[in-house]
Amino acid sequence: MHIQPFKVEEWMNEYEKYCKYDLGNTTVNTLTLEKLFEICEVDKQYFLNKLCVNSLGYGYVKGNPDFKKGISKLYKNVSQDEIITTIGTAGANHLVFYSLVEPEDEVISVLPTYQQLYSIPESFGANVKYLHLKPENNFLPDLEELNNLVSENTKLICLNNPNNPTGALMDEIFLKKIVEIAKKSDAYILCDEVYRGLNQEDIETPSIVGLYEKGISTSGMSKTFSLAGLRLGWTVSKDKSFLKKAFSHREYNMISCSVSDETVAALALENASKIVERNKKTIRENLKILDSWVKNEKLVRYVKPQAGTTALVFYDADISSKDLCDKLAKKCGVFLTPGFCFELEYCFRIGYCKDKEQLKKGLEKISSLLHSITAHPV
Ligand SMILES: Cc1ncc(COP(=O)(O)O)c(C=O)c1O
Repeated sequence: MHIQPFKVEEWMNEYEKYCKYDLGNTTVNTLTLEKLFEICEVDKQYFLNKLCVNSLGYGYVKGNPDFKKGISKLYKNVSQDEIITTIGTAGANHLVFYSLVEPEDEVISVLPTYQQLYSIPESFGANVKYLHLKPENNFLPDLEELNNLVSENTKLICLNNPNNPTGALMDEIFLKKIVEIAKKSDAYILCDEVYRGLNQEDIETPSIVGLYEKGISTSGMSKTFSLAGLRLGWTVSKDKSFLKKAFSHREYNMISCSVSDETVAALALENASKIVERNKKTIRENLKILDSWVKNEKLVRYVKPQAGTTALVFYDADISSKDLCDKLAKKCGVFLTPGFCFELEYCFRIGYCKDKEQLKKGLEKISSLLHSITAHPV
C-alpha cells in the first residue's frame, strides 16, 4: 500500500544530528525518571522496587487501570471502557483511521497539521479534502469553507487542537460550531489533542469528546506531559460502534502496551497538574523570548501562538524553506523544520519550548543568516 513520505519525521530524523540549537523538536523539556520522581515527590527506591517486582507478561491487555484512571481524569465523564491505550498518539491516530476509513470514503482534514491526519486516510484510499488554515483567520478553520466542503458522504473530519505547527487554539464555542456542521452529515470528528492543556492563557480547552457523541480524541504522554519516550497514547470516544471496531483492530497490531511504561505513566498522570504547571511556565516564558524576537526582526512575521509548543514563522528572503533550514542546520547548527513539510513555503516551524539559551542563540543565528541572504541574493 502506497503512502506519502512523512515529511516532518523524515526531516527530523535527518537533521536532528545538527542540533546544537534545538528549535526543531516539539516537546517541552523532556523529563527523566529522576526529575519525574522529584516533581511527583515520590521515593525513588520505593518506586523502583515496585517496578522490579512487576510481572513482565502482557499485563492488562486493555490497559493498566491506574493509567486509564489517570487518562479518564483528563476528560469529563469518561469511563475506562471508553479509553483505548496505544503506542503514542501516533498509534492512536493510526488506529482511528485503520478502524474507520475505507476506500472512497470522504475525509476532511485541516492543513497545516501533523501529516498522519491526511496521509494515512489517503493511503487507505479515502478521498481527502483539505481545509486550509490561513494566517488572516489566525489559523482557525474558515467555517463557511468547512460547510461547503462537507457533503452527505463525509465520514470523518480531522482537527488538531491546539494545532501543530501554528499554535492556534479553538475554544468551546468554536468547536461547537464545527460539531453543528459535522452533524449535518453524521460525520465523526477526530481531534488530535496531544498538546491539550499547554495554553498561554489560563483557560480550559474542552475535548471534542465532551461536545459530540461522534467525537474521537487522540492524545498521549509526549507533549503535555514531556514523556515522549514512554511511547504511550490513547484514543477516547463515547461512540460504541467506533470503540468496538477500534478494540478489534487493536488486537491485530499491538495486543497490549509496555507494562513498565504504563506504571510510570500512571504515576505521571496521578500528578498531571504538577507536570502541566511546570510545562505551562516554560511555554509562557519561552514564548516571550520568541515574541520579542519576532517584533524586533523585520524579516519575519507570525501569528502569535495561543497554545502548544510551536509557531509558524514566515520570512522575507528569497530562499526556499528547505534551503534555508538546510543552511541553518549545516552552517549554524540550528535545527528548525521547513514549511515544505507542511505544504507551505517561505516559512518554518519553530519548536520554542526547550532550552532558553539555545532558543536565544538560535534566533540570533536565524537573523544573521536571513540578513546575509537578503544582503547577497543569489
Ligand atoms: C499533532 C501531533 N500528533 C501526534 C504526534 C505524535 O505523538 P506521539 O509522540 O505521542 O506519538 C505529534 C508529534 O509531534 C504531533 O505533533
